[in-house]
Amino acid sequence: MTKKPFRVGMIGYGFMGRAHTNAYKQVGQFFPSDFQVILKAACARDAAKAQVFADQWGYESIETDWRKLIARPDIDAVDICVPNNLHAEMAIVAAAAGKMILCEKPLAMNAAEGRTMVAAVEAAKVANMVWYNYRRIPAVSLAKKLIDEGRLGKVFHYRAKFLQDWTINAELPQGGQGLWRLDAAAAGAGVSGDLLAHCIDTALWFNGSLSSVCAMTEVFVKERQHALTGKMEQITIDDACTFFGKFANGSLANFESTRYARGHKAQYTLEINGENMSIAWDLHDLHRLQIFDYKDESKIRGWKSIHVTDNSPDHPYMANWWVPGLAIGYDSSFTHQVADFLQGLSTGKPASPTFRDALETQLVLDAVLESAKTHQWKDVAKA
Ligand SMILES: NC(=O)c1ccc[n+]([C@@H]2O[C@H](COP(=O)([O-])OP(=O)(O)OC[C@H]3O[C@@H](n4cnc5c(N)ncnc54)[C@H](O)[C@@H]3O)[C@@H](O)[C@H]2O)c1
Repeated sequence: MTKKPFRVGMIGYGFMGRAHTNAYKQVGQFFPSDFQVILKAACARDAAKAQVFADQWGYESIETDWRKLIARPDIDAVDICVPNNLHAEMAIVAAAAGKMILCEKPLAMNAAEGRTMVAAVEAAKVANMVWYNYRRIPAVSLAKKLIDEGRLGKVFHYRAKFLQDWTINAELPQGGQGLWRLDAAAAGAGVSGDLLAHCIDTALWFNGSLSSVCAMTEVFVKERQHALTGKMEQITIDDACTFFGKFANGSLANFESTRYARGHKAQYTLEINGENMSIAWDLHDLHRLQIFDYKDESKIRGWKSIHVTDNSPDHPYMANWWVPGLAIGYDSSFTHQVADFLQGLSTGKPASPTFRDALETQLVLDAVLESAKTHQWKDVAKA
């Protein structure tokens, strides 16, 4: 069967540029589809660096102007892997050009900007998706399956944490590659948009809408030298953010994120407690799902650890990988996301989260930051 070409134009060659490219290279072998992924062009402002990336990862050509990349007739899908302040403009131009769009998270700098992006892709009727990749870690996907099967009964609590420690050093500058995360002009928000966005996306997917939130944020290092200007500049993003909330189903939310938790590099943990079952997951042990099932016989009742590596259809995605018992990693979540996106093109059932789905996370983030600013509970606006 002749496959349809899926010609990728990649914008950005940093952490996510590499993670996504790795996924495009793997997907055809592990998750065959109606499409042949072609790494058509990589775009970055510096031609020499773009060329090094293209040569190393197998892109056919380069561009230094993202508008030229989007305008190329030989590009079907634009992948946006650049700092958050560039997502909206690139996505809106790509939608107007009729391109499919795979955009990194958070969707936008804020919900108002997110709404313009949703309007643009829906008006242009182009396929779109946001890279909330943690949904596609098999253990997390399995948790979703158990929740959708109704095994938890009434849900009481949802808690999530995303902890890092890389900004404790006050000498660390802000701005530029990687460090744009500390610069409000490029990132929009701090740990809320960067890390809690993932936790919120998974929570909404598992447990439905959040209706109200009460948050506090802190900036522990008030000024940092800007890598681009050389000047000491104020830090206005949130270094740490904690919030409570209430889900529409009546359950209570408890979220925390910081880059000041010494010893933690990327510890995303989540737990959901229902009347019949509790489920917990930890990114540092990503192939395991912890389950407590109250229906188990009392003498053997207790937390059990499911090694989500069976190659039966019961363990999402695993049938396409190795033999039972062998773990896959963080990188595979991106491969699964591309696989689902391509399958969505074939079936006409779009892979989630679409821009519209991701707007919900953005609305929660807006309410969280507004609550922290005003020291008041805030209702989450409707999408
Ligand atoms: N899904 C995830 O788990 C995850 C993880 C990390 C980052 N992200 C998101 O991915 C995006 C990129 O983050 P990153 O860690 O890859 O950042 P990075 O700093 O490693 O890379 C950013 C890239 O953008 C390029 N860039 C900046 N301005 C550009 C322009 N005008 N034109 C073309 N290229 C430009 C830079 O040269 C660099 O290659 C962010 O939105 C971030 O929030 C998501």
